[in-house]
Amino acid sequence: MKIRKSGSNFVLALIALTAILSQSSQLAAQDSERPWMNPNLAPDERAEMVLKQLTLDEKLALLHGNGMAHVPQWTMPLTPLANGGAGYVEGVKRLGIPPLIISDAAYGVRDSGANGRYATAMPSNLGAASSWDPDSACAYGEMIGQDLRAQGFDMTLGGGVDLVREPRNGRTFEYTGEDPLLAGTMDGSMMKCEQAQHIVGDIKHYVMNDQETGRFVVNAIISQKDMQESDLLAFHIAIAAANPGAVMCSYNRINAVYGCENPYTLNEVLKKEWGFKGFVISDWTGTHSTIAASAAGLDQEQPLADYFGPKLKEAVEAGKVPVSEIDDHARRVLYAEFLSGIVDNPPQTSVPDVEKGLEVAQHVEEESIVLLKNDHNVLPIDPSRVHSIAIIGGHADVGMISGGGSAQVDPPGGNAIMPPGKGATIWQEHIWFPTSPLRALRAKLPNTKVAFDPGTDLQSAAALARNSDLAIVFASQWLAEDMDLPSLSLSGNQNDLIEQITAANPHTIVVLESGTAVTMPWIDKAAGVVEAWFAGSSGDKALANVLVGDVNPSGKLPITFPKSENDLPRSSIPPVPAQDLTGDPSTHPSTYAVHYDEGPEVGYKWFEAQHKQPLFPFGFGLSYSSWAYSGLSVDSASKSVRFTVTNTGKRTGTEIAEVYASLPEGTHESSYRRLVGWKRITLQPGASQTVTVPIDSRVLKTFEPADSKWNFESGDYGIFVGGSSDNTPLEGSLAVR
Ligand code: BGC
Repeated sequence: MKIRKSGSNFVLALIALTAILSQSSQLAAQDSERPWMNPNLAPDERAEMVLKQLTLDEKLALLHGNGMAHVPQWTMPLTPLANGGAGYVEGVKRLGIPPLIISDAAYGVRDSGANGRYATAMPSNLGAASSWDPDSACAYGEMIGQDLRAQGFDMTLGGGVDLVREPRNGRTFEYTGEDPLLAGTMDGSMMKCEQAQHIVGDIKHYVMNDQETGRFVVNAIISQKDMQESDLLAFHIAIAAANPGAVMCSYNRINAVYGCENPYTLNEVLKKEWGFKGFVISDWTGTHSTIAASAAGLDQEQPLADYFGPKLKEAVEAGKVPVSEIDDHARRVLYAEFLSGIVDNPPQTSVPDVEKGLEVAQHVEEESIVLLKNDHNVLPIDPSRVHSIAIIGGHADVGMISGGGSAQVDPPGGNAIMPPGKGATIWQEHIWFPTSPLRALRAKLPNTKVAFDPGTDLQSAAALARNSDLAIVFASQWLAEDMDLPSLSLSGNQNDLIEQITAANPHTIVVLESGTAVTMPWIDKAAGVVEAWFAGSSGDKALANVLVGDVNPSGKLPITFPKSENDLPRSSIPPVPAQDLTGDPSTHPSTYAVHYDEGPEVGYKWFEAQHKQPLFPFGFGLSYSSWAYSGLSVDSASKSVRFTVTNTGKRTGTEIAEVYASLPEGTHESSYRRLVGWKRITLQPGASQTVTVPIDSRVLKTFEPADSKWNFESGDYGIFVGGSSDNTPLEGSLAVR
């Protein structure tokens, strides 16, 4: 029996060995037939090898989408393969090239509700930019990448980096602020780490997609020089950091030509000047032509095949589009697949790491909350003095609001302010996550009476505030794609509510859950103001930690908060003329235009150049500690600055030390300073640290349109160091010769 058993074991082992040997010889044969499957080769080399194997039809299949899930009018035969996502592009199965299975994922994976899945909502992209922490941005992207893979996607549509030129823009929360260096660095870090999860990365919406009003028709008018030194610079910095597989061209026109058929921005700048090797993907229905778009540098139409399907094939066969152009488009798609690693590591569906997501979202939010006002140290809440707190408004008993549109992440259990159980969210519904600040604060302050009033009846809310030691008013300002705000004022009765509560109790704190800047007619009356942005899946816990002082706030504003819309370059966004809303925009060009005459003077630069005082400047944010700056030295040879920061407060905290520079006197753009670097420094009370911050010369150079060259003008550049764009106690000068 024993002998027979070991004999049969031997036979089984022999069979297994033979199977392994035959499998590996098959693989070896396959490898020699498919040399592009060798992961040690460079992505371009692998892409080139595959390209040589493709038929024209296979190449063309890489250049268009196949519909979009959940949008009946955009359904095509292969749409069911989109995995419930925004798009699907066929791969080349016979050669081992996987399809692109694409999902929106600005602050988390979209449509999890409709698909019966779960995804973490990170804080809004603008919120996360307030941390000025590229490592935290990396964790943000990494988490989204992991959630995408867990759901079976291999390409993201995140990475918004359009500059916040127009703070009323409904998508401001999807972007990373008004400064090219900060926005580009933060967005680039997010996308670099997202793509590192084997997800084809994307940076969007290229370019000048700075408002939603008339988004399909608007003509953004700006000189090449100004665009290069502002919005294009932000994209360049982000793309250089992330090396994404894809860049999404925008709906709008740029100097009369659509973003997805613009030879200047696509071929000239992105592909030639910056050497971008990935592919240009159109925004959804943002393609308007076949021959012109292909020639201008659009590589892939989405989500349909209206222009890059049969029409493109006909154009190739008629000799109107050269095969070399098709090869270039296809090569770029293949390159992105090899670059991101989706060929070697296709997605594996799995249970998303919910716990990790909650932790990362909390960490990012804790670094992102900005303390805007804190008179007489009303914060952090001291339970030995504060025995009763009135929490008022903003559905704070239930949850916190989130940003809408294609960025929307679905909350677990459905919209927290609606009856439970509803899965899918509808376009432009205001969605609350079940992250109740009331519950979180009660958990943190077990011996304090924490009562809630919805704020709908001003008298009753004021009465509760009057009878409490401290009042916290929650105000929200919802934002979404496909709309702009009429103004930066809080909507509904929220300003009145804040007026009433601050009148009833001088110890009133306003917590803002906003997607952009907010005007604050009541600012002098509120003792404290906290900007929590759209706070994500763990917003309640992060906020409670900041309010009670378990976390010392360190976030700084990535956008200027103006006192009034009248201080902006445009006091309002003009409506689209009725005749421009109808008809096919490609045959009936719209007259609707925005003139960006402020050029590169975006945000704080505009305020400085115009000598206007904002409500809260770019780079501003308080801490429960105080900070002193000393000992600046500028090293002109290495282009870096050195200085010392001291924590002069009583708590451990983190200061973001900011470095600005101005161009030499008399040069064209010497009227404003620009951010050239920063450093986050964590210090215990009384401790000092001397730091070196490199000056990023990309933001100091000026663009010469005549020869498309960047010029580093010689002269003495002003250097300013401090804790905010308008508070720079250290001054020096950088000599460029
Ligand atoms: C948005 C894009 C989005 C796409 C797919 C468009 O309307 O502008 O940002 O990625 O839809 O949902």
